[in-house]
Amino acid sequence: MSMSREEDSGLVRERIAGLQVVDLAKKFGTPLFVYDAAVIRARLADLRRFDVVRYAQKACSNLAVVQLLRTGGALVDAVSAGEIHRALAAGYPPSGDPPPIVYTADIFDRDALELVIEKNIHVNCGSRHMIEQYGERVSGREITLRINPGFGHGHSRKTNTGGDLSKHGIWHTQLHDALVEAEHYGLSVTGIHMHIGSGTNLEHLSQVCSALEQAALEAGRNVRSISAGGGLPVPYRPHDPRIDLATYFDLWNGTRRRLEDAFGHGVRLEIEPGRYLVAESGFLICEIRAIKQQGDNLFYLVDAGFNNLARPILYGSYHPISLAPRETAMLRGTVEAVVGGPLCESGDIFTQEEGGFVVKRSLPQAAVGDYLVIEVAGAYGFVMGSNYNSKPYAAEVLIADGEPWLVRRRQTYEEMMAWDMLPD
Ligand code: LLP
Repeated sequence: MSMSREEDSGLVRERIAGLQVVDLAKKFGTPLFVYDAAVIRARLADLRRFDVVRYAQKACSNLAVVQLLRTGGALVDAVSAGEIHRALAAGYPPSGDPPPIVYTADIFDRDALELVIEKNIHVNCGSRHMIEQYGERVSGREITLRINPGFGHGHSRKTNTGGDLSKHGIWHTQLHDALVEAEHYGLSVTGIHMHIGSGTNLEHLSQVCSALEQAALEAGRNVRSISAGGGLPVPYRPHDPRIDLATYFDLWNGTRRRLEDAFGHGVRLEIEPGRYLVAESGFLICEIRAIKQQGDNLFYLVDAGFNNLARPILYGSYHPISLAPRETAMLRGTVEAVVGGPLCESGDIFTQEEGGFVVKRSLPQAAVGDYLVIEVAGAYGFVMGSNYNSKPYAAEVLIADGEPWLVRRRQTYEEMMAWDMLPD
């Protein structure tokens, strides 16, 4: 059974999904991403009121995770040719009603354009040029439009996807031109989509409803689906509230019902979360390899860095951190420590705030060889990793029904160098 954050002290975590952290670390090595399938299933079940839950796989695109969501009944979003290939490999059929896979983007790179045409993947267009490039090649297909309503919100400026500083979506006042363009090419606009940002709150999310309603009415009676996008927040800090999904659904359902009345036919209500489905399922296990006192600051230096989890250095994101002692638990005092990684860059700190300000965290006293577990790391963790400092990609394990499945093995040094080529 999974241990919830309420059940443990918040500072010590000996188990993930019933398995000993120490055993997982010894068996699979560190740094290691571990996902708890039961948490993913539970989060998906929370959203069952929506007609379609479309997983934004950019949050965690491991095939085993995508497949788990597929078998749980979720459909999938893809933002690149690579994500379409992953969706197909995880068992999604290319087309159907509702479309199992939707390609949502602001551009087609050339690979993506060829792939959506060849496989008949549904396209959600975020720019006029996408309509044009698609329309020049195909006719009679259905498309949806991603609209930028002119405002947005996010947990960081970098995750706000609405407003005039955002490159995303068709600008709301240009919807008419986009509709004319689609008609010119014989493309039928069957849905409207809006995603204003990630980690936004209920108040901002609800503003999207009326903006979307306006856009759908303008698009007219061909509209048979609306998408609320993603962006549902998750509790990262111990006392963060959980989003009130009932209220959130009611707002969207009201919008949908009004559109159904206006159009005289059914309108499918989609939601497109990434983080909500996977963030809390994921843990990054790393080993403390050095402990140092630098003036007033105590540093725990671990073998994972921003090559594994970039959210703190990119957005100053907070992730809970707990200790998994190598030896069986004993009572320990608490210290104020900074947690850093192995990279040759001073920003390689897990305990930092936006702007790069290093902060201390209350953590149990630890020794070299103990493990730290960086929590709520399932979304935008592994997928934003890199080979910086020539660190191989970490391994990923999915625990399902008490069984730890290695779902991505650790990259080898040979694999890391395999694409480099020496000139003759
Ligand atoms: N739909 C669209 C069109 C999106 O652009 C995104 C996220 C989502 C859905 C899913 O959003 P979510 O439910 O996961 O918040 N790397 C950042 C997040 C960037 C999200 C980009 N788009 C982070 O670590 O917070």
